[in-house]
Amino acid sequence: MPSVAPHALRIPASAIRRIYDLAQGIDDVVFLNVGEPDLPVAPHVLAAGARAWEQDVTNYTPNGGIAPLRTAIAAKLRRDNGLDVTPDQVWVTAGGMQALHQAMSLTLDAGDEVLVPDPGYVNFAMTARHVGAVPVPYRLDPARGFRPDLASLRAAITPRTRVLLVNSPSNPLGTVYEAEVLRQLLDVAAEHDLWVISDEVYEQFTYGTPHVSTASLDTDGRVLSVFSFSKTYALTGARVGWLVAPPQWDALLRTAQEATVSCVNAPAQFAALAALEGDQQVVTDAREHYRGNLEAACDLLSRKGIRFQRPAGAFYLWIEVAHASGGDVSTWCERFLVKHKVAVAPGSAFGSQGEGWIRVSLAGTRDDVVTGLSRLPDRS
Ligand SMILES: Cc1ncc(COP(=O)(O)O)c(C=O)c1O
Repeated sequence: MPSVAPHALRIPASAIRRIYDLAQGIDDVVFLNVGEPDLPVAPHVLAAGARAWEQDVTNYTPNGGIAPLRTAIAAKLRRDNGLDVTPDQVWVTAGGMQALHQAMSLTLDAGDEVLVPDPGYVNFAMTARHVGAVPVPYRLDPARGFRPDLASLRAAITPRTRVLLVNSPSNPLGTVYEAEVLRQLLDVAAEHDLWVISDEVYEQFTYGTPHVSTASLDTDGRVLSVFSFSKTYALTGARVGWLVAPPQWDALLRTAQEATVSCVNAPAQFAALAALEGDQQVVTDAREHYRGNLEAACDLLSRKGIRFQRPAGAFYLWIEVAHASGGDVSTWCERFLVKHKVAVAPGSAFGSQGEGWIRVSLAGTRDDVVTGLSRLPDRS
């Protein structure tokens, strides 16, 4: 039998998925383990998608996406993110995931290294491995609210390093980087001539600290920006996101898109366009819903004496359970699920720095968040 390509066997399995699979065999589980907004999609968005299907708008679209969507995204980026980009620089992708994949596949050759945050979103390492590259963790410093430890970052750079991955607001931490932090990261990237991939899929969900787009501080065109409709508009299954690329990447991305998805599902693009052009009250309401869940969760944890990282963005809570997990938080999460019927993500799934922590999603109902967290063991 022929063998599978060795690099494919190095794609790490997601430990969050293991919890999800285990939960399938258990009744009445409170799911706090996935970042899935429980809010309904706005009717005008659903109607736009349905209309496209009904009117048989089912042909291929241009590789980069339908023109009105690219134009609307470029206008949004100019208005809200301080990015001076043309529609040609906007590449509509199958969710933020495909934007990440395109960005990595076009900057990393086999064996090249990409610096990924630890703790950080599991899929950064998975995607890197999928393109044959090597994810190298850099430490986020708990003493600085999980902002990057620049010494650890510099120490991780080798002659094979090509890319620095930045994620603000962060999954799983909810940290939002101030302009000063982003400037420091851009300086490191410039010193070593690295690309920067900036994942901003949670840009709309911040609670006090304003979101700053890394590319708005970019002085020499080294930032590739990843955005998504998934979290902002509760459209996770529609699979629409976008990559902002340098202008000279036009031909490159045209062929890269053709070689992967050709284009994104046409009705989903029309739904995304309606989301962007319609009333943004749904986004405000979603933010207030997550903020309310966050306040309720923080109050409850404080009363239980449990330590946590108070997030400034995204919709997750990073909670320390080292008092109970005995050095193996992954096994502890499995036992907690079986005994207390609450699914949470083990922090170790997000990197070695996550041992002793769990990530809880605040994107569900208030009731689920409060019920699930009340079952955590108190810190005595
Ligand atoms: C940090 C981060 N980036 C990207 C994604 C991918 O999002 P999408 O559903 O748009 O592919 C996620 C999803 O959870 C995420 O947390």
